Amino acid sequence: MDNLTASSVAHPNIAFIKYWGDIDPSLHIPANGSISMNLQELYTRTQVSFDPDLEGDQFSLNGRLVEDVGLTRVSDFLEHVRQMSGIVIFAAVESYNNFPVGTGIASSASGFAALSLAASHAAGLDLDERALSRLARSGSGSACRSIPPGFVEWQAGCSDVDSYAYSIAPAGHWDIVDCIAVVSQEEKLVSSSTGHLLAGTSSLQAARVDDAPKRLMRCREAILKRDFDALAEVVELDSNLMHAIMLSSTPPLMYWEPATQAIVQAVQSWRKSGLPVCYTIDAGPNVHVICSADSSQDIADKIGLLPGVQKIYISNPGGPARLENSRFQHNSSHLKSI
Ligand code: DP6
Repeated sequence: MDNLTASSVAHPNIAFIKYWGDIDPSLHIPANGSISMNLQELYTRTQVSFDPDLEGDQFSLNGRLVEDVGLTRVSDFLEHVRQMSGIVIFAAVESYNNFPVGTGIASSASGFAALSLAASHAAGLDLDERALSRLARSGSGSACRSIPPGFVEWQAGCSDVDSYAYSIAPAGHWDIVDCIAVVSQEEKLVSSSTGHLLAGTSSLQAARVDDAPKRLMRCREAILKRDFDALAEVVELDSNLMHAIMLSSTPPLMYWEPATQAIVQAVQSWRKSGLPVCYTIDAGPNVHVICSADSSQDIADKIGLLPGVQKIYISNPGGPARLENSRFQHNSSHLKSI
């Protein structure tokens, strides 16, 4: 690989206990800790090349040059890497996602995790997992959870130094699956970043945050004991609490669509009938249906019959963000969708 160039791959993650609201928005220091699972079959691949001939940073996503806010966010992040490394030249960033961007499938998580690794490496920094997680968090909060492997906890902390994520169990610990029911591929109108700023306007946020340590403990224990029923209860509760904050913010936020509600009700009835399945929804209308690997094909078939479902991505627990040795190559052929 050329000097000043590095390539990386990182997976998005689905939050079982959600990050919603910051105590310091500029550094993404969250109001509460969170727990997630990386999604192996979904990824962002990124190549960063620092180049003395560039007159500004460049960013392309899925082959298209990005300008405005998207470029500013990447360029601000690169500035942080330049300050850490002492490098003074601009960079070209090329990223590819094998899943839709900005629809509640955590593209900013895998995007900034991959960017942290590739940019720091290209700039000559050799950061350990914790430092990389902190760096990724400065780009997008949930990105800190896409650095370590498997099932991951983000300790909220109260400063840049102690707010980072670590693995609580490897990807192979538990064969559960995320069947992501895509009901819309439109980019959402209100970003998570804007949503975090509104969280404090809900009078319910303080109660959600106060109770978060209990939910974190229940979720951590359910994962460690591989107890699906316990996981299902706390995951749905936590998702509902976050959407209650969104609905009661000023102005209110409503990401659900009619198809979202239909999937939630179907999942509840499948679980009542004995299937190991639960739902969780991020800042978008698409529904993450978590189930055991054994039942994933059956569940995916059932989801496919529901109204408004355009596509289903099926993903196992995923590995860490990692460098790629070869030059940039995009290949989405191993992504299963129906
Ligand atoms: C609903 O990490 O995308 O997915 O830090 O502003 O980039 P920024 O926000 P982001 O927020 C994620 C919100 C969430 C819940 C979660 O993943 O924990």
